[in-house]
Amino acid sequence: MPRTNPGPPAPAAVLCGLGGWVPPRVVTNDELAARLDTDDTWIRTRTGIRTRHVAEPGQATSDLAVEAGRLALRSAGGVSADAVIVTTTTPDRPCPATAPVVASRLGLAGAAAFDIGAVCTGFVYGLATAAGLITSGVAERVLLIGADTYSTIVDPLDRTNAIIFGDGAGAVVLRAGDPDEPGAVGHFELGSDGAHEDLITVAAGGSRRRATAVETTHAERHFAMRGKEVYRHAVTRMAASARTTLDQAGWKIGDVDHFVPHQANLRILHSVADELGLPRERCVANVDTVGNTGAASIPLALADAVGRQHISVGDRLLLTAFGGGLTWGSCLLTWPELADPPQPERTTP
Ligand code: COA
Repeated sequence: MPRTNPGPPAPAAVLCGLGGWVPPRVVTNDELAARLDTDDTWIRTRTGIRTRHVAEPGQATSDLAVEAGRLALRSAGGVSADAVIVTTTTPDRPCPATAPVVASRLGLAGAAAFDIGAVCTGFVYGLATAAGLITSGVAERVLLIGADTYSTIVDPLDRTNAIIFGDGAGAVVLRAGDPDEPGAVGHFELGSDGAHEDLITVAAGGSRRRATAVETTHAERHFAMRGKEVYRHAVTRMAASARTTLDQAGWKIGDVDHFVPHQANLRILHSVADELGLPRERCVANVDTVGNTGAASIPLALADAVGRQHISVGDRLLLTAFGGGLTWGSCLLTWPELADPPQPERTTP
């Protein structure tokens, strides 16, 4: 039966605020080389990373998330939110979730608040979830924060991972709006393949290998990654996800002004761009200064590029992420006018 009275069209989720924050302490490649068997040239040529920011002892993921969330709400014009999502691999504690405490510290007590875990794909999963809350009418305005303190789970003496990861937080505000406005998020493509759960993992501390088990090893309690395999999966999965999303939307690769990928490492980003036939200069990258910041990496890269005025109102963006799980996902949007766009000094102190 055809619907005769479809009612008003469902609202779209429109990005209207953006903020990024990294802890002040900078760790250079030379500083790492002083305690690890590595050197600046190896790190730069293999990963493109020159520096990363690291939280102080006692500084938790929620502390970073609150800073980024505050900046995003300010950038949206000093608004409030009726839902707060934190996406992270390094929550303050296994229980409760980090989002309620973040909401409360931002003066948003009473808002719906929960965490999402999709490792480095968390921000794109979070965008889709936030959009769902808005289009279903559950929320009018959502604060989505990607925040990670990898320094709390990476073994500082593990030269493979200690060089790659950094700490940081990035946040966006989404509001109910019109599907045709700049800032409307979608199309989305999300995927996973749990058969490769061991490629990126912290083996102990959950219900499978309990933190209380006396027999857990030092390695099991820290972040582990099978770098070469991850590299191959990252390139193939990100390129495939990006292509599927572009096809769904009827965009050609030439329609993309800026490709904003999860900042895994520069070689991965350039390989994905090459695979897609996208000029490397359209690939937004700040991994050289902040490293891989997990769920924070896409909003931090956005805040950095918008702050430098590299991304302008009306530019067409393709966001693509990849992470442990394995998980991957992409999303398209046209960059909107923000009430108070991020400034470079607020992103990198
Ligand atoms: N400094 C110096 N040498 C290092 C090193 C470091 N920090 N880390 C590893 N090595 C050594 C290895 O031990 C190995 O030595 P060997 O040949 O004597 O065994 C050699 O360098 C080559 O190691 P390999 O693992 O083959 O290097 P690679 O070229 O694959 O680079 C990564 C390693 C981790 C940089 C790379 O695999 C990578 O980028 N993977 C993806 C990581 C990533 O981005 N993950 C995030 C996804 S969300």
